[in-house]
Amino acid sequence: MIDRLGELREQALGELESIDNLSDLEAWRVRHLGRKSALTQVLRGLAGLSLEEKRASGAAANELRSLFEAQLALKQEAVREAEIAQAIETGRIDVTLPGRAPTLGRLHPSTQMLRQISDIFITMGFEVIEGPDVEWEYYCFDALNIPPDHPARDMWDTLWIDFEAEDGRHPMLLRTHTSPMQIRVMESRRPPVRVIVPGMCYRYEATDATHESMFYQIEGFAVDTNITLADLKGTLFEFAKRLFGKERKARFRCDYFPFVEPGVEMAIDCFLCNGSGCQLCSGTGWIEILGAGMVHPDVLRRVGYDPEVYTGFAFGLGVERMLMLKRGIDDIRLFYSNDLRFLRQF
Ligand code: FA5
Repeated sequence: MIDRLGELREQALGELESIDNLSDLEAWRVRHLGRKSALTQVLRGLAGLSLEEKRASGAAANELRSLFEAQLALKQEAVREAEIAQAIETGRIDVTLPGRAPTLGRLHPSTQMLRQISDIFITMGFEVIEGPDVEWEYYCFDALNIPPDHPARDMWDTLWIDFEAEDGRHPMLLRTHTSPMQIRVMESRRPPVRVIVPGMCYRYEATDATHESMFYQIEGFAVDTNITLADLKGTLFEFAKRLFGKERKARFRCDYFPFVEPGVEMAIDCFLCNGSGCQLCSGTGWIEILGAGMVHPDVLRRVGYDPEVYTGFAFGLGVERMLMLKRGIDDIRLFYSNDLRFLRQF
């Protein structure tokens, strides 16, 4: 048996030496390692031998098999290398051709803007907290001083969720703004709080160049002892300068939101015409950028904060609108219509 294995070894390795292409190599593999090869027959025949013969011949046969496999792998490598070298030599492969660069993805422009704005507030000491997109009516409206049938509910065209409570009402909705997180955060913490909430909002809008039915807002609020409207103004003016440039002027005017008192809208002087009036600012010289105000005492009371001790400010801004202003984009619908020609510009 050992002699037979020696013969096989000599024959196979001799044949292997002269092989110079992959198809002959495959034929060699089938001949010497395949199911019908002499070596496999030897291994199969071991069963009929005595224990002693089995031990001696079995080990030698297995060793030979490993040797064949190792030699085959070496030869395959050598043949492949030789084939490539030949292809380069004859010009079949042009190694000077530049490789194909992988296409890199990038962040959506809204996400980029969301991060840029968040970074500004983070450096001012605000913490980022996210909240649920599907919200209870209580947090979105009631707790913010907007009870059912209050006309202020008309300010937000709401997408209600098809979920019926035991009393037959539909108390679940897609959040129309990020303000419900004011309540959720204050319910779970004691002052001081200084938080921003980036998040998608949803409204049942007839969409147009400045209104989408999905858009990002960033809510911000701070509650502590001695917080005044001056703190709100200082924070937001600093934010506007960092986002839109040092030379920007900002202005506060009265506005109404049921959950703040007083309520304000903030505008910056138009960076296109520097305040002299143009198409972007509808001739007014000012561009409104957000709604804000001092947190209403009833809201504070509802979350268990004593309004005699604590005061706070809150603001909410539209991320896509900021981006439109900053980059001169004239239609908000471009953001989510998935036209790569538009998105690749950012
Ligand atoms: C609010 O949603 C208030 N929650 C903001 C607020 C927070 C006020 C805290 C006071 C204190 P308003 O509906 O105006 O307010 O929306 C805020 C911003 O979201 C707008 O200024 C605008 O930039 C953006 N926005 C509103 N509706 C849309 C829409 N349909 N498409 C795109 N952006 C929108």
